[in-house]
Amino acid sequence: MGRYDFDQIVDRRAINASKWNVTEGIIPMSIADTDFLSPPEVSEAIRERVAVESYGYSRMTDADYDAILDWIGTHQRQEVPREHLLSTPGVLYTMRVVMFALTEPGDRVIVQTPLHTPSIGSAELRRRVPVKNQMKRLPDGRYTFDLDNLERCLAEGARVLMMCAPNNPTGRVWTMEELSGLADLVKEYDAWIVSDEIHRDIVYRGKRHIPISTLPGMEERAITVFSTSKTFNMGGFHIGSAIIADPRLRADVTQAFYEYGHSCGRPSALCIVAQTAAYKHGAGWLEELLEYLDGNISLALKYLEGTPLAVFRPDGTFLLWVDCEALGMHTDELKLFMREKARIQPAPGHYFDTYQIGEYTGLQHHFRLNIAMPRSLIEEAMDRLRNAVLAL
Ligand SMILES: Cc1ncc(COP(=O)(O)O)c(C=O)c1O
Repeated sequence: MGRYDFDQIVDRRAINASKWNVTEGIIPMSIADTDFLSPPEVSEAIRERVAVESYGYSRMTDADYDAILDWIGTHQRQEVPREHLLSTPGVLYTMRVVMFALTEPGDRVIVQTPLHTPSIGSAELRRRVPVKNQMKRLPDGRYTFDLDNLERCLAEGARVLMMCAPNNPTGRVWTMEELSGLADLVKEYDAWIVSDEIHRDIVYRGKRHIPISTLPGMEERAITVFSTSKTFNMGGFHIGSAIIADPRLRADVTQAFYEYGHSCGRPSALCIVAQTAAYKHGAGWLEELLEYLDGNISLALKYLEGTPLAVFRPDGTFLLWVDCEALGMHTDELKLFMREKARIQPAPGHYFDTYQIGEYTGLQHHFRLNIAMPRSLIEEAMDRLRNAVLAL
């Protein structure tokens, strides 16, 4: 056994965790945070800070920025000058601010589906026009970019691509070859990439997350947005980082933070302490987490063997993107089946195809499972799902 106990059941219903706002008896597997405790060093640092009992305005110090730079240098081999790094209030917020800074109303913004819903919806806010570049599904079930269609989108005038790496929901960690193909087109059409890398630390053995901004000629055209939220289960803190090499864009984004409110980009006292502690002391904890999640994935896949459900083992993320086409159910039937028969709550597939989630168009033949929970709970959830499907 390792140093950390990921088997421990944490009563997150009792602390009003969004994920656990479900009917008693249903196992929630939708919202993408984990049911594990955060690294103990994070809580220790917060306790130490709270002991001072003074909570006035605080600022990020050089040591806080260095903790981020050291982490990304070690874990993503991303060497970044200090002045390119901005502190942010979170990932989605920053993705939007950057996209708005790069576009005008009426401009087209490319999203590659399947994709985390709010990232699709971002483009529709403030009258930008989302253009879907649906990813291709290879014969083995893996998804990859449709570069031919991406080129059409760029040729028709889109200049901003909203990217998700590793991809939520498919769990793909993009290879150098895939990223190079994308980067070549973006350079050819003089476009930008806004890269949501919130899942960048959750990558399994044999895979490597490559920030697209580190590819030749991409430093200034690719904006990297990330945080500790997924890695250390710290989504409740609302703090993150962005790397923006282009000085004009960086100034625009800084100005937008200022205009949206004095506190934007100036994280709260406890968030700073928590983030710095995680980056400085969380590496060993993360290593054990990845082993544990890998075990959960193997277990979940085993339960799905011999059922009509098809799934491709994710390269990264703690999400399973499950093809349920063989069940022949549309969204309403699938939701009812999951609630009444399997007694679990996955995220329905159409969430990853359209922002108009009430319309139930698109990827109804999939659902997404969050497997980041103690082994006993994932075992129970997958057993329920397997039995319910086999009983059909
Ligand atoms: C791909 C992706 N981006 C962004 C977010 C949310 O980030 P934040 O809470 O920092 O806005 C999530 C959370 O599920 C996510 O999966």
